[in-house]
Amino acid sequence: MLLITTISGSLCVVCVCAILAKVVPDLRASVLTYGKLSETADAPRSKWVSRLAACTVPKSYFAHFYLGGLVFGLYCGIELALLKSQRTERSLGPLLDFLRRWDSSRGSHRVEGWKCLVGLGLMTCHLARRLLECWLVERPSPSARMHLSHYILGFGFYGAMVFGTWLEGVGDLSLWGQDKWQRQPTTGYPILSTVLGIGLFLYVSLHQYRCHSILAALRSNKKNEDGQRYRVPYGDWFEYLVTPHYTCDVLVYVSLCILYQGQSIIMLCGLLWTLVNLSVVASETKEWYIATFPDFPKKRWIMVPGLY
Ligand SMILES: NC(=O)c1ccc[n+]([C@@H]2O[C@H](COP(=O)([O-])OP(=O)(O)OC[C@H]3O[C@@H](n4cnc5c(N)ncnc54)[C@H](OP(=O)(O)O)[C@@H]3O)[C@@H](O)[C@H]2O)c1
Repeated sequence: MLLITTISGSLCVVCVCAILAKVVPDLRASVLTYGKLSETADAPRSKWVSRLAACTVPKSYFAHFYLGGLVFGLYCGIELALLKSQRTERSLGPLLDFLRRWDSSRGSHRVEGWKCLVGLGLMTCHLARRLLECWLVERPSPSARMHLSHYILGFGFYGAMVFGTWLEGVGDLSLWGQDKWQRQPTTGYPILSTVLGIGLFLYVSLHQYRCHSILAALRSNKKNEDGQRYRVPYGDWFEYLVTPHYTCDVLVYVSLCILYQGQSIIMLCGLLWTLVNLSVVASETKEWYIATFPDFPKKRWIMVPGLY
């Protein structure tokens, strides 16, 4: 319960921080924008804001989040497989052993154990795909930077999401043996939600891949002939949206919440963070496109057709 509360609480805190970064001018000028958005960001108004804004790392370090998350996801998979196959105290790996000793089983029966394994599999596939896209598809500009706080947050977020796939069902996998917080018999439509969740996951993963491919195809290694390193993307969901790859990212977490039938609090908080964070960045992106390209199709919605 302690870890579940800590992770969910931290995700809510960072949601508030993202909103503050959007509305507080000094934070907006220092930590909010990254990559191309820094070109049109507000200028720092004081020395400390300039210093804070200067704490950056290359934006291509995004790949590190996915690599770290993927390794952690695979490791969790091994420990959970050991737990499921042997179910003896000695078969526990250090992570589950630590959890069993130091945390209580309360809250870890909310989700069926088998769904945790499906969710962990999907999250691991998501991280693997994103890592491969970073390495093989995307063409990041060497000059694009992101704030150090984003870098640290990225590791924390993907670590939390890997935990979030199984932490609230690990009691159902008998980590604590028989305990007083046992699951009530399943209600609702677990198979239907699983099929819907996996279906949506695959569908939006394909579109996110297409969107990243479209962005990569816009870029040549040298500056484009007209002096722009960036261009207006067209094709796939870019015809309707400014940042369809962000929409897909949010939908990945929606698909996981469908899989868990809304019973995983960590996953709901992860969805909230993704929605808040990417909505903030997406609105900045629209402003950047309009400021940078006079011919940008202004009728495109930011992330959700007809709504936002
Ligand atoms: N779950 C979360 O909280 C979260 C947070 C952030 C990102 N993400 C996901 O990570 C993925 C990447 O995010 P991002 O913020 O890096 O996206 P992004 O800023 O759109 O950049 C993606 C790639 O496309 C390039 N690019 C973007 N716009 C371009 C244009 N108009 N012309 C040419 N190239 C362009 C970027 O170049 P540069 O190298 O120059 O930037 C970068 O290589 C997204 O799918 C997003 O959903 C998730």
